Amino acid sequence: MAWNPDTYNKFKQERFGPFYDLIQLVKVRPAIHAIDLGCGTGELTRKLADALPGSTVSGIDSSQEMLNDASAFQNEQVSFQKKTIEEQLASAEKWDLVFSNAAIQWLGNHETLYPKIISTIKPGGQLVVQIPSNHHHFTHTTLIELATTPPFAAALNGFTRISPVLDIQEYGKIFFNHGGTEITVYEKIYPHVLKDADALFDWVSGTAMIPYVEKLPEDIKQSFIATYKDRLRKQFKESPVFYPFKRTIMAATF
Ligand SMILES: C[S@@+](CC[C@H](N)C(=O)[O-])C[C@H]1O[C@@H](n2cnc3c(N)ncnc32)[C@H](O)[C@@H]1O
Repeated sequence: MAWNPDTYNKFKQERFGPFYDLIQLVKVRPAIHAIDLGCGTGELTRKLADALPGSTVSGIDSSQEMLNDASAFQNEQVSFQKKTIEEQLASAEKWDLVFSNAAIQWLGNHETLYPKIISTIKPGGQLVVQIPSNHHHFTHTTLIELATTPPFAAALNGFTRISPVLDIQEYGKIFFNHGGTEITVYEKIYPHVLKDADALFDWVSGTAMIPYVEKLPEDIKQSFIATYKDRLRKQFKESPVFYPFKRTIMAATF
């Protein structure tokens, strides 16, 4: 997927909030071996490493665009590699901590994916993950609605992106069924106040809209963007716009 760190970073402070909640769940132990799946620009990987003195943290991501910014956050504790999460999970490497902030939602079938992730955790190690669960919001349902109507449906060859994110109790069950203890799973609203509907568009264009626009030829892409913007402007006429963004935060020890 064609990530753009500048667009993504437009709402950097808002996107940092869940990370600070997530890091509260990390058990600080000396000299652990940790991985950050879908580390993006690496800024938060470095913050994770700073909270884990004497540990090594490896950040992996499939996007060269995002990783281009990561060298600034590299040090003797932190390293980065261009790799998909799927490739990483296929290797035999095991970790004391598998951490991931806002990336696992891009991978499908969480019922089978999570057991694979858990199998890469050393005995006594921890899984700590945050994923957006905002897929019932107008911003997301409208993307699917547009993608399934003409002329976009044909141009997208029927593609839609249905969120793989499960109800929170399902993650609890998966953790328990795979030997998890100290299980925490909760959903939280992050109350963002944005200037107007166009700011909401800017937010979505940095993430959920990417899989659609990257598949469209230029003329249809512009029409998709204009139609989507118009729907947002009609739905959110007020200023500011309240964007209650729902996220799922989870941790367990295995
Ligand atoms: C929303 S960003 C989050 C980045 C970072 N964790 C943060 O919190 O700032 C999602 C990241 O997941 C990466 N990603 C998505 N699917 C991936 C996959 N299958 N393998 C590796 N990285 C992936 C993207 O390239 C992107 O950098």
